[in-house]
Amino acid sequence: MSHGRITGWATNLPDRVLTNDELAQMVDTSDEWITARTGIKTRHIDGKVTEMSAAAALDAMKMAGVSPDQIDLLLLATISPDQQIPASASVIQDSLGLSCGAFDLNAACSGFVYGLVTAMQFIQGGMERILVIGSDSLSSITNWEDRGTCILFGDGAGAVIVENSADKPSLLGWDLMSSGDAADLLYCEHGDNIVMDGQAVFRKAVLAMEAAAINAMDKAGVTSDQIKLVVPHQANVRIIESALKRLDIPIEKAALVLNYTGNTSAASIPLALVDALNAERVDSGDLILLVGFGAGMTSAAAVVRWDPPTI
Ligand code: UT7
Repeated sequence: MSHGRITGWATNLPDRVLTNDELAQMVDTSDEWITARTGIKTRHIDGKVTEMSAAAALDAMKMAGVSPDQIDLLLLATISPDQQIPASASVIQDSLGLSCGAFDLNAACSGFVYGLVTAMQFIQGGMERILVIGSDSLSSITNWEDRGTCILFGDGAGAVIVENSADKPSLLGWDLMSSGDAADLLYCEHGDNIVMDGQAVFRKAVLAMEAAAINAMDKAGVTSDQIKLVVPHQANVRIIESALKRLDIPIEKAALVLNYTGNTSAASIPLALVDALNAERVDSGDLILLVGFGAGMTSAAAVVRWDPPTI
């Protein structure tokens, strides 16, 4: 049986940093309110999905020691592609010089976990190396006059290389879910900006994260006390605190980057994952729980046994 594992990782954030104080000059808000209610201090904006993705992917490929001709598939999770057609995945595939299939995947903020789980199945199906990217430019679809949303969002990209190089499975359990009946709580029409019922999304998010995490841990045959690192979707620190409390996981186990990234949708989990990996927060054999939720409303969780690449 073939098993995938992560052998390279990298991120990219656009240069322009937007502070809470700057937002307070644009809408009726304050640094104090945003910090207390969300945990966000700054976010990066004005990024393009294709550019951020290609930069992150190039660094992830370098780290894994993988050349463009060795990539079998490119999978891009995004809700804010540069254009409606063609898929941003195809533009990235060309700019990186890959010769392989490439497609965009829209599962909103759960997208990276959807992508990682999908990549693991392709590895089991015989592929050798897959590039998985989570990237969003939420600043391009944000209503900068709506204080209920513009304080939250940012841009960024995170990329990982998944290779058929593990002796045993690293993806131990996973859960993918969609509740389309709640689609009107968070949406964006063509050519328009994001519309959100913040309070309703907040309530559903906590429950969806808890359910997804429990299902993935059940399938993996592990309990929450065995988890070493949780990588949650970075939407609001209060959502993360509430969900982890229900799961009986101390907040100290969470990877948190939203104070300087804001909510970057599909990029949020890989941004937090890469931050934790670079900080060497996990050792060989440790269990990582990735868990996200987003528009759809989608949710996704995965339990990964960390199998570090041999350098
Ligand atoms: O990726 C998934 C997508 N999104 C999310 O996960 C977001 C989920 N929702 C949230 O994170 C939170 O609901 C928000 C951060 C959007 C809002 O926080 P909240 O604690 O739910 O605030 P609220 O909507 O209950 O509003 C509380 C008060 C209200 O004033 P009154 O009625 O108490 O006088 C709002 O008008 O805060 C006011 N308010 C603000 N004040 C200053 C709402 N937004 C702001 C703001 N600055 N930006």
